[in-house]
Amino acid sequence: MKKQIEQKAAEIEKLIQEYLPKEEGYEKVIYEAMNYTMLAGGKRIRPMLMQETYRMFGGTSKVIEPFMAAIEMIHTYSLIHDDLPALDNDDYRRGRKTAHVVFGEDMAILAGDALLNYAFEVASRTFLEYPECSELGRAFMVLAKKPGVSGMIGGQVVDVALTGQEVSPEEMMYIYRCKTGALIEASMMIGAILAGADEEQVSLVEKVAANIGLAFQIQDDILDIVSDSQTLGKPVGSDAKNHKYTYATVYGITAAKAKVEELTREAVAILEKLPADNPFLPELLNYLVQREK
Ligand code: IPE
Ligand code: IPE
Ligand code: MG
Ligand code: MG
Ligand code: MG
Repeated sequence: MKKQIEQKAAEIEKLIQEYLPKEEGYEKVIYEAMNYTMLAGGKRIRPMLMQETYRMFGGTSKVIEPFMAAIEMIHTYSLIHDDLPALDNDDYRRGRKTAHVVFGEDMAILAGDALLNYAFEVASRTFLEYPECSELGRAFMVLAKKPGVSGMIGGQVVDVALTGQEVSPEEMMYIYRCKTGALIEASMMIGAILAGADEEQVSLVEKVAANIGLAFQIQDDILDIVSDSQTLGKPVGSDAKNHKYTYATVYGITAAKAKVEELTREAVAILEKLPADNPFLPELLNYLVQREK
């Protein structure tokens, strides 16, 4: 399984490279800063989930590819900004010094902004290149909304606003569902939409992804306590340093692990109800939440 995922990640890596900007012009430094974090590695799980969900619903066209690159750009922008001194103030990401350490805070802010915009620039080319695809509008709405204020940004806002405070279970679930779940939901929903899934199917896919998003973030919190920075490529103990109340610190590692398993089991059960199949996908979901980095 690990080999299969690594091979898929390597293919996605190549694909993403084709969509990155050239480093030239007066503004060259910003392209360097964008590409620096984009090319630092990363598990590429969001484009992978998008592609596998697309395949699950019978999608075969290359129309999915710009969207795969776009979601990874949006995710990478969120990481660059999450690491800034004003937010988590972390110095390592994907095994490298963070963008703000290498390029300065000013360029890191701009590189995040630039990646967000570039994602839409890249994805919008599909309107010209695939005029026959009638689902592009719906896919764009998801790409615009899930990373936004009612999604990823909203989650980051509440995460930051409640830093150092005890959060209620509802607040914690809101933060996780949005800051991490939203991009995972977008990934799988866009895959389903572009493959022609109907509203009901897309909403089941959204549920699967919401569960996986929660489980993914709880696993991230566990790793922040039990792993090491060499393995993770980012600092451990970031949450404690920042006085964050996480699922793992509030309920303990054992309960957190049990929750990850429960959420994943539920996700796979919903997935299996769908009238479409991709045997790799449930395996990928299980692998993701049991990951060690
Ligand atoms: C890190 O995401 C941020 C979270 C939402 C937990 P990933 O664990 O997918 O990070 P990369 O892309 O592999 O670096
Ligand atoms: C971040 O959560 C989620 C984002 C939207 C970037 P964390 O702050 O826990 O992510 P890491 O641990 O820095 O990757
Ligand atoms: Mg954070
Ligand atoms: Mg962080
Ligand atoms: Mg974390």
